[in-house]
Amino acid sequence: MDLKAKIRNIEDFPEKGVIFRDITTLIKDPDAFGYVTDTLASRVREQDVDMIVVLDARGFLFGSPVAYLLKKGIVPVRKKGKLPADVYHVEYQLEYGTDQLEMHKDAIKKGMRVAVFDDLLATGGTAKAACELVELAGAEVVSLNFVIELTDLGGRAALGGYDVFSLVQY
Ligand code: PRP
Ligand code: HPA
Repeated sequence: MDLKAKIRNIEDFPEKGVIFRDITTLIKDPDAFGYVTDTLASRVREQDVDMIVVLDARGFLFGSPVAYLLKKGIVPVRKKGKLPADVYHVEYQLEYGTDQLEMHKDAIKKGMRVAVFDDLLATGGTAKAACELVELAGAEVVSLNFVIELTDLGGRAALGGYDVFSLVQY
């Protein structure tokens, strides 16, 4: 399927000079959303994972239906201050400044095999931080799975050593 035809390109969002790749047009199309879900699920099915980790916020949209198909549970990694129980906490670099991600300490058990899902890979900062959280729990990141990869931003190199998969590259 031509997924680029389903992803809307919005110029100058969120700031001048940026072309924003908008997945809302993809997820409202049941054939495209189903294709993405099935394709990601068939790849991760081979990896024998114990848990699906989904990244705030658009990673929730793609990781959750995959977890349902694979009959696995979901662990959300959230922006700071959203999770109510004890959390692991990591700070990561943004283009300007830093942000913080958290995961419940009791969400993943030591030794578990984990697949991580997000909508888009840019610099890799978010995914790297998510890997740190999973590893703080003593679990293993088996794969990092994205719908979109912005190749010029170097995310794949920043995630060297991890299995990185994306369906569409710009
Ligand atoms: C976007 C995107 C990824 C991240 C990728 O999320 O959904 O999570 O940026 O960028 P990186 O590879 O440079 O870290 P954003 O932080 O905009 O959050 P949102 O999903 O809540 O809108
Ligand atoms: N689309 C969606 N999220 C993003 C983008 C984009 O082009 N760049 C960084 N995060």
